[in-house]
Amino acid sequence: MTDLAIPSVDLADLVSSDATRVARAGAALKTAFGTYGLVYVFGHGISSPKLRDLYDAFRALVARPESEKRPYGRPDLWFQRGWTPPNTETAVAGGGQPDFKECWFATPFESDPGLKADYPEIYPDNVWPDPEPPGFREGMLDLGRSLHESGLALLRGCAVALGLEPESFAALCDRAAHVTRLLNYLPLSPEQVGGKILWGEEHTDFNLLTLLPGGQFYDPEGKPARRPDDKSGLFLRTRATAEHPTGILVPGRPPEGAIVAQVGQELEILTGGAFLATPHVITAPGAAGWTRLSAAHFMHVQGNAVLYPLPPFRTPQTIAAYRPPVLAGTYSLKTLVDIGLAPKSALDKLGYRHYDRLDEIRAAEKR
Ligand SMILES: [Fe+2]
Repeated sequence: MTDLAIPSVDLADLVSSDATRVARAGAALKTAFGTYGLVYVFGHGISSPKLRDLYDAFRALVARPESEKRPYGRPDLWFQRGWTPPNTETAVAGGGQPDFKECWFATPFESDPGLKADYPEIYPDNVWPDPEPPGFREGMLDLGRSLHESGLALLRGCAVALGLEPESFAALCDRAAHVTRLLNYLPLSPEQVGGKILWGEEHTDFNLLTLLPGGQFYDPEGKPARRPDDKSGLFLRTRATAEHPTGILVPGRPPEGAIVAQVGQELEILTGGAFLATPHVITAPGAAGWTRLSAAHFMHVQGNAVLYPLPPFRTPQTIAAYRPPVLAGTYSLKTLVDIGLAPKSALDKLGYRHYDRLDEIRAAEKR
């Protein structure tokens, strides 16, 4: 594991009227997403005190007994809102080993009625705990909206840097199932330390772009603390090169004042792999009793938009790599089944569902 020179981008440069600043930021973004799959972002408008207040509210929520949280764990919504209990989500590479975490999902935006009708489990209304820890709802919605604004600025910058119309990606985001998530990585017992447990198994995000405002460790007494060791927390894997054929694991520790943005699978598909989805892992500490809170905002492509390399990226190679074209909503459904959040039966919705109708007709014929 090593620290690399991951490029940083200042959002003020991306929206500047000075063409030199825009070009410099665009070039940094292209290198960052093309080579590393992530970028450090300045000028994002996320307030550290507000994030700390939100983490305090979330800590009050996760400290409640399981029986009080259980009603908000909603398999009928594929856990896309409310509480995700521990031992629920599994990374595809995890071999059945669930992540060691519990989460809360909320969307900072109203769901589009048409898309909600098409994908009820992907566009549901928010679920909030009763009673709500003070500041929880407002803090989460506010964080989600702020991160989303930064994400839209980055997506416009990406489009320009790739020679596309500025709104190419942002327009695909319109009315999508964007979701903000708070995560609580669970404490290890002394027996679990040094074993095979990962807080989050290595995976790539299936959405378009993920924004990570930075996590917080807590010591066994529950006090905010610096990371207990160098191996704990978020690590991101860079693109493979001849020199590093399996990439390099980079600590997800942005420079002071920056947040992290990383490429998801949808952006990889749309760019035909020019931007590669970033594999990342959250490793557990080598000490018992430690926890970590973190937050993420997941920007998605709108459910009825097609995921396929955009025309400038369409070559025989990229078509072979990313075919067939698929709706973003269908892609989400399939992935949510793969990671254990949606039931396998959800896949039946993708095929013909009226096999029994012909049986009934033939039975009636015989009567
Ligand atoms: Fe992730």
